Amino acid sequence: MPDFPFGTTITFSSILLATYIFFKFSAIKKRSSPSRVTKSSSSSSFLDKSKVKATEKVQPVDASFDWKTEEPVKQYPFKNAAYKLTMGIKNLSVQDWLLIDSDYLRKLKAKKEIVTNDHPFYPKEKQLTDRTVLITEECWPAARELYDVVIQYLCDKYPMYFVVDSVKGTVHNKITDETHPYTADSVPLEDTKELLFKLSRNIEEDFIILLKDPSRESEKDGSEYFYKGGVFAFAAGFAPSDRFNMPLSFIHHPIPGYESKLKLSMNRFFDRVSPGQYVSRMNFSVQTHDRFYVDDQNKNHNLKEGEETVVFKKEDLDFDNQVHYRSERQTLTKLPKSGAVVFTIRTFLVPMSQLKQEGPEVTERFIGAIKGLPEDIADYKRSVAWGPAVIDYLEQ
Ligand code: HEM
Repeated sequence: MPDFPFGTTITFSSILLATYIFFKFSAIKKRSSPSRVTKSSSSSSFLDKSKVKATEKVQPVDASFDWKTEEPVKQYPFKNAAYKLTMGIKNLSVQDWLLIDSDYLRKLKAKKEIVTNDHPFYPKEKQLTDRTVLITEECWPAARELYDVVIQYLCDKYPMYFVVDSVKGTVHNKITDETHPYTADSVPLEDTKELLFKLSRNIEEDFIILLKDPSRESEKDGSEYFYKGGVFAFAAGFAPSDRFNMPLSFIHHPIPGYESKLKLSMNRFFDRVSPGQYVSRMNFSVQTHDRFYVDDQNKNHNLKEGEETVVFKKEDLDFDNQVHYRSERQTLTKLPKSGAVVFTIRTFLVPMSQLKQEGPEVTERFIGAIKGLPEDIADYKRSVAWGPAVIDYLEQ
């Protein structure tokens, strides 16, 4: 046993003990660091970055996946309770960002007819392309980034339907039997708008790209994110071109309570959301027709000067073909290179009779939700017009 200076005697076992304490302490320190990060980053509950895995990558669906038999996700987010205007967002796995199901081709067809101004219902003078497919020049890089991200996502998730030809630089969509560029690189910069049409040939979701615009910071709400591009074909009660190139608050201005209840948290969220993070929210409404694109109905702010709200009677409505339940499943994420916010909208539109067939749990919840709409929101959603007839029908 060696003797040490200053009269200290160190035994072999005390060295072992000191080594053990040293390693134990470092291990505790290492484990505790993430929880410190978690605490500071979860100061806002909807921004729980501890749940975000930067490397999280979409996985292929099971080899037995068949789009023709894949049931669309049912979107019945309403509560049998008083309605509260909140952001209502939830964390979403990258796996559930963009979906393909048995309604894919029907929706892609309707979308194509709308974005090419070739839909049998609308007169050509409506110029639907100019109302729904929009982009500013500064948004080109973000649109190109989104194109690459989406196509790669589809190839990774649905390898049986999206087949890459690396020699030709193309991707073949086996469901639509169409071939598109594999990356945006093969499309000239000035043709970037073409990529928006091509995206709408591959995903059912509408998509909006939002960017900050430092050149407009002095305008009202000019430090917010602006709607700078995308395909908004399934618009529920407004013309997307009227909201295009405008900040979030302007886009949402007809919503009663937006300024006081949503504006602050929305802007904060858009600033803080990070690439790799996905969130979703759903809404619900009712319309008395079966159209995906509507810019002159559905909302009370579309009533013309002097026009009164007509309260429908159940007997006057056809709940199999005319009255439809409509819900949007919206997702939001940020692109890593451009920092653009990407907002997607997936529209679930079914006849009211289909909702009724879901049974009493859904119908009672829906009746409670309609009754729970406060006056201003009931007015905004036009439930003052359709609410009594729908309740009457569902209670029958
Ligand atoms: C987390 C993000 C967002 C939240 C929480 C949100 C919230 C809302 C809410 C509460 C409404 C009223 C109807 C409903 O319940 O859905 C609404 C409507 C609307 N939102 Fe958003 N929104 C978000 C993002 C966006 C983005 C990025 C756009 C971009 C264009 C957008 C465009 C619209 C439009 C056009 C309407 C319809 C307004 C009208 O009735 O005229 N929203 N949004």
